[in-house]
Amino acid sequence: MPYSSDPMSTLPADDAPAHQPSTDTASTHKVPDAGAYPPVLLAEKLSKQVTSGERSLNILHDLSLSVAAGESVAILGKSGAGKSTLLGLLAGLDTPSDGELTLFGQPLSRLDEDGRAALRAGRVGFVFQNFQLLPTLSALENVLLPLELSPRAGEDHVAAQWLERVGLGERTGHLPKQLSGGEQQRVAIARAFVTDPELVFADEPTGNLDPDTGAQIIDLLFTLNREAGTTLILVTHDHALARRCDRCLRLANGKLEPFEPVSANGGGNE
Ligand SMILES: Nc1ncnc2c1ncn2[C@@H]1O[C@H](COP(=O)(O)OP(=O)(O)OP(=O)(O)O)[C@@H](O)[C@H]1O
Ligand SMILES: [Mg+2]
Repeated sequence: MPYSSDPMSTLPADDAPAHQPSTDTASTHKVPDAGAYPPVLLAEKLSKQVTSGERSLNILHDLSLSVAAGESVAILGKSGAGKSTLLGLLAGLDTPSDGELTLFGQPLSRLDEDGRAALRAGRVGFVFQNFQLLPTLSALENVLLPLELSPRAGEDHVAAQWLERVGLGERTGHLPKQLSGGEQQRVAIARAFVTDPELVFADEPTGNLDPDTGAQIIDLLFTLNREAGTTLILVTHDHALARRCDRCLRLANGKLEPFEPVSANGGGNE
């Protein structure tokens, strides 16, 4: 896939070197030639505070991260550490209390909600921890929705192909409530990938799947990462999944730090 002359494009060139695992810091990375391309995502000193009743809660504090095109990044951390909050911010679904997020070279603080949605359309896929499928739409209609809002509108057959790819070719007419948790998760994954996005965020994408189905879905994610250059940012508790990513980070005390997942025979969950 040739590197586009469009400065906003972040797809790597055919001859771009393969990504190597690295153990660098959260704010810099050593993907070969990373400096040759602008980062797909640049987070600078992001903070997120929320108020809960009388109390103010600092979920993220001065957090910085740069992700290169084609990279795969795992984010681990304890329950409640702020991983889902961070993913929402990095995807531009939520706004930081402080700091700047630049996606595809565009500082998001300069865009309103519609502008952020337009920037994401077709280029960013998101698999929510709780799926967020629309309850009145069938599996197929849920997957069609982002396609219709993207430049690929009209290519409806792609939605059915995606449901086949995640093993749900027989369930296209089912409503979310007629699907198991794992089936809903796979619809959510099909929905995230249907527009052939450059950047995919997935919040515990195999959390509801049995080991075999989970392994198939993960293989699919990494095949797309390798073959289509899709940048992956995954939240997971699964060290085996984290080990397959170019880079692993742990969210703790509102910041990201480098993290080494335990080895294959060591088991382990974060
Ligand atoms: N809008 C909000 N108002 C108040 N508290 C919030 C809000 N959003 C998140 N929180 C709190 O912030 C913390 C981080 O939540 P978040 O969902 O990001 O954690 P997480 O790391 O994804 O956890 P898990 O692994 O359980 O999914 C939690 O303590 C949560 O209760
Ligand atoms: Mg979460």
